[in-house]
Amino acid sequence: MKGIILAGGAGSRLFPLTLVASKQLQPVYDKPMVYYPLTTLLEGGVREFCLISTPQDLPRFRQLLGDGRQWGLAIEYREQAKPEGIAQAFLIAESFIGGDAVTLILGDNIFYGGDIFQRAFADFKSGATIFGYHVHDPERYGVVQFDEQGRAISIEEKPKQPKSNYAVPGLYIYDNSIVALTKAMKPSPRGELEITDVNVEYLRRGHLRVVRLNRGFAWLDAGTSSSLHEASAYVQTIEKRQGIKIGCPEEASFRRGFLTLDQLEALTARMPRCEYREYLEKEVIAEARLVVS
Ligand code: DAU
Repeated sequence: MKGIILAGGAGSRLFPLTLVASKQLQPVYDKPMVYYPLTTLLEGGVREFCLISTPQDLPRFRQLLGDGRQWGLAIEYREQAKPEGIAQAFLIAESFIGGDAVTLILGDNIFYGGDIFQRAFADFKSGATIFGYHVHDPERYGVVQFDEQGRAISIEEKPKQPKSNYAVPGLYIYDNSIVALTKAMKPSPRGELEITDVNVEYLRRGHLRVVRLNRGFAWLDAGTSSSLHEASAYVQTIEKRQGIKIGCPEEASFRRGFLTLDQLEALTARMPRCEYREYLEKEVIAEARLVVS
């Protein structure tokens, strides 16, 4: 399974923060926002990534993430010249996707809790898998409606009168037919290739699976100054209380077997002395050495 991280867009709702660094590079508590969606896919076993952003912001993402080798990953980069829709990512990344299945995550979506995505990646065979999450303001999102048997029967983008409270979060899994399907699509009245149109088409073909995310699961969006602040506070609360880190690619790579303990140790030793390094040394490396010995 290949992974696309879509991290473009104007970020105008975070102005003036976004004058010097794009939204997905802003800090969410103790790390850059893009670490969280990267780690979500990594935990699901994705190892090959394509990050898509604007021509202006791409160099800074490269500087931050490099080619991914330090984490046992491969990261490629592609430009999206204009924000012409989330689904345009599949056209931009066509050569990266090749003949594989692909998952796309939005660079400003933060998920925490459980292994539901890991299971969805492992179970995925064909068609499309998307998710449904109960929210109080569904009109801001793609909204999925279910019948009495729990099967999805409609999906609408930002409906004025939502047919349910289930919003579709920004993590999608598709089989390889996504590329041909996107090529055949027309832009919406607002000039974008809409991800909701993609999902509606999979639904029409009878190839869409919608997995409901349970109550204990957190989906945070960090697109406005308030929600960015709330996301930081949420991460801080969990991290302080539990003594763990959310969105730590080094740890996730190690736990997934993409880095050996020795490689993780060498990587950590190159970090400046800081709380992040201390966490990896004390909570991840020392604990793992105890298990090994
Ligand atoms: O967050 C989930 C929601 O994301 C879904 O429920 C909606 O169905 C989906 O359309 C999308 O809605 P948004 O209103 O959040 O989309 P927005 O245009 O804000 O884009 C989401 C992120 O993707 C944002 O961080 C910028 C990036 N983006 C967006 C577009 C349209 C790009 O990088 N390129 C693009 O062309």
